[in-house]
Amino acid sequence: MTVTVPTHRLYTGARIPMIGLGTFGSDHADPIEVACAVRGAYEVGYRHFDCAAVYGNEPEVGKVFRELFCAAVQRDDLWVTSKVWNDMHGRIEEACRQSLADLQLPYVDLYLVHWPFPNGHPAACAVDSRCGDARPYIHDEFMKTWRQMERLVELGLTRHIGTSNMTIPKLRLLLHDARIKPAVNEMEVHPHFQQTELVEYLRANGILAVGYCPLGSPNRPGRDRSPADSVDMEDPVILEIALKHGIHPAGICLKWAVQRGVVPIPMSTKQENYLANLEAICGDPLDREEMCRIAAIDRNCRLVKGQVFLWKPGQRWEDLWDMDGEITPP
Ligand SMILES: NC(=O)c1ccc[n+]([C@@H]2O[C@H](COP(=O)([O-])OP(=O)(O)OC[C@H]3O[C@@H](n4cnc5c(N)ncnc54)[C@H](OP(=O)(O)O)[C@@H]3O)[C@@H](O)[C@H]2O)c1
Repeated sequence: MTVTVPTHRLYTGARIPMIGLGTFGSDHADPIEVACAVRGAYEVGYRHFDCAAVYGNEPEVGKVFRELFCAAVQRDDLWVTSKVWNDMHGRIEEACRQSLADLQLPYVDLYLVHWPFPNGHPAACAVDSRCGDARPYIHDEFMKTWRQMERLVELGLTRHIGTSNMTIPKLRLLLHDARIKPAVNEMEVHPHFQQTELVEYLRANGILAVGYCPLGSPNRPGRDRSPADSVDMEDPVILEIALKHGIHPAGICLKWAVQRGVVPIPMSTKQENYLANLEAICGDPLDREEMCRIAAIDRNCRLVKGQVFLWKPGQRWEDLWDMDGEITPP
């Protein structure tokens, strides 16, 4: 059985499916296993796939897309996102063309700047330490990257461009200077990390919030784990609502995201899980009281702390997200 997924209308008029399949399992996820999940997810109804060069599996995922097109699937039937990694901010077109070659696509639907910081690969630094070549957000530099992103749209290599891991002050600067406004900001969102102010800011500016780690990323890499982290899918409120709806707590996290206007991109390599996730967002909605109860369990628990991007010795990961006071307004 194939489930039909609701869509959200972007400011460009294009429609993006309200749930996507994430393709980053962990640093050690098997690319073939992820590609099999993409294939299986397509078969049950997923049409939106969240990819990135740094996930190290775009060639394997691309083989699946090729097979689908050979089986008469139309390019327009899929929504494919990819992202430029931080070491390629100066060579955006080259990075995008490489992802297109790997994914075996003539264009992507959405191309994101994965992080607003230009630096190397997280694998180059130890867990809980910063990257030796990390540099701060410098708006003029970011705009040079953004101009190259805008050029990709003109070249037809992507239909939309967007950001990821941005904060409101950085977005304010970008919105002031962009010729093509971001269609999407991809960001961490789950019941214990709701980012309400940023979600509201995006909505007010006609930018869609795409939510990563929507289930609280139970298998995330060690560098993104700390003893203070809480577990969304074990929250008593989530468990109680899940029991009432007769579904897994994952489904409650996803219903909540979608009803809040955030597009979740849960990852799973197990058919029973990715199918259940899809069915959850198409099933009975949460009522107002349930939505209010979940709104009240926010713990401001950021999981992807980004400590590898700190650029000065002695900084704390919280500084990365609070450092916007250093940005000079236009
Ligand atoms: N832009 C960025 O900087 C950024 C950062 C992080 C992630 N992302 C994207 O966001 C996607 C999602 O984030 P994530 O993978 O870290 O976290 P997540 O989607 O919150 O959690 C994924 C984990 O949940 C489990 N799971 C999925 N459905 C389940 C269900 N119904 N019941 C029980 N367990 C379930 C999966 O295990 P099984 O495989 O065993 O089902 C998987 O290990 C990534 O894959 C990636 O595409 C983007």
